[in-house]
Amino acid sequence: MKIVVIQGPNINMLGLREVGIYGAMKMEEIHEQMKIAASQSNAELEFFQSNFEGELIDKIQECLGTADGIIINPAAYTHTSVAIRDAIAAVSLPTIEVHISNVYRREEFRQKSLISPVCSGTIVGFGPFGYHLALMGILQICDQIEKLKAAQKQK
Ligand code: DQA
Repeated sequence: MKIVVIQGPNINMLGLREVGIYGAMKMEEIHEQMKIAASQSNAELEFFQSNFEGELIDKIQECLGTADGIIINPAAYTHTSVAIRDAIAAVSLPTIEVHISNVYRREEFRQKSLISPVCSGTIVGFGPFGYHLALMGILQICDQIEKLKAAQKQK
């Protein structure tokens, strides 16, 4: 099972940026913890971070035919990017949206996600642990898909 973890703008600043909101953990530390969990589940992870919308879209497109699922924190693009939404819809892979903070109790402009409607699920407000929850969730979804495919083959 291959899962691509895509991190949007300023997520590379975790640990330095607004620590009261996002916590002290660095992005690399989150990824290390995810790797440990993935190895216990026989899953392969790839990590990608960009501050550029087009690069995030290229990465999502690249997942078609090469990955089983996507975990994405589109960061500020969550609230603005029709293009990222369209890319997720286009590849049509199981996708989990993650937000470290609880965007629903922050500024009004953060309370609208253009991304959620094209995702399998969204995890919001659990801090860095949200990435672990997203990993568990996407593996579960991918497992179900595999089982369905196997059952259909037998028919
Ligand atoms: C965020 C929430 C966004 O509103 C913000 O722009 C981010 C991070 C989060 O993980 O809580 O950069 O996606």
